[in-house]
Amino acid sequence: MTTPPLAEGGLHALVQQCAAEVKLRAPGFQPAVAVILGSGLGGFADTLTDQVVIPYAELPHFPRSSVPGHAGRLVLGQLNGQSVMAMQGRVHFYEGYAPWQVAFPARVLCSFKPKVLVVTNAAGGINLDFKVGDLMAISDHLNLSGWNPLVGPNDEQLGPRFPDMSHAYEPLLLALLQSCAKHEGIPLRHGVYAQLSGPSYETPAEIRMLRTVGADAVGMSTVPEVIVASHMGVPVAGVSCITNLAAGIGSHPLSHEEVSQTANLVKDVFLRLLGRFIVEAAKHG
Ligand code: HPA
Repeated sequence: MTTPPLAEGGLHALVQQCAAEVKLRAPGFQPAVAVILGSGLGGFADTLTDQVVIPYAELPHFPRSSVPGHAGRLVLGQLNGQSVMAMQGRVHFYEGYAPWQVAFPARVLCSFKPKVLVVTNAAGGINLDFKVGDLMAISDHLNLSGWNPLVGPNDEQLGPRFPDMSHAYEPLLLALLQSCAKHEGIPLRHGVYAQLSGPSYETPAEIRMLRTVGADAVGMSTVPEVIVASHMGVPVAGVSCITNLAAGIGSHPLSHEEVSQTANLVKDVFLRLLGRFIVEAAKHG
């Protein structure tokens, strides 16, 4: 189904049904921050205390991730006194899900009205200054996927037909990311993330084109989640882990193994940045 089901209550009702199951498992839980953890970055959720873990398979209407490195669990817990709801793994359009389904988990997170939705991903570096293992704060995105999760009837209970995307990545949060990185002594790049549909990696010609149109990093996720967060009025901060140089830049072929390996190598730095940011964002939000 390419558009959300028009069943009674529409998409809003499906989101509420799923959120109700979460509330049943963790009564009264109110996340200050929600986080979506990308390829190889799921370890962050393991650092939360007082965990309630819900496999995606036990959540109504939640799509299940089929990609290695994506655990497929919703983890609710505490980080230095702040309540955090984290998705360990996400689904992608290339897995065969409809656009509204790809963005459905982000909608469920946003329905809890966290102060911030943090999106993270593994990405190929396009900017020639970037190195493998760099972290990049996402300042904006290019939706080159060819689709949009809001296609279909608009459910006004969730948001407006034509949401503004001028500040999709909240500038104050971007500044907060930079200051957290500085405090932690972590070099943090910033740049524009381009999403293509995948699952094949890009050709060198596509990467040259992406650089020309202003992309600094490329990946196959994140944009739909940011679009629905904008739709639902939840501020977003985004971090990409540059797991590899994009096609045609490095000398070796691209592989999911390299992506996972690099994500694993930067794990500790990533956890430190995310940990500090979440606590600061929850305090100030
Ligand atoms: N291209 C697309 N998606 C990616 C890449 C890449 O080079 N690296 C990690 N995800």
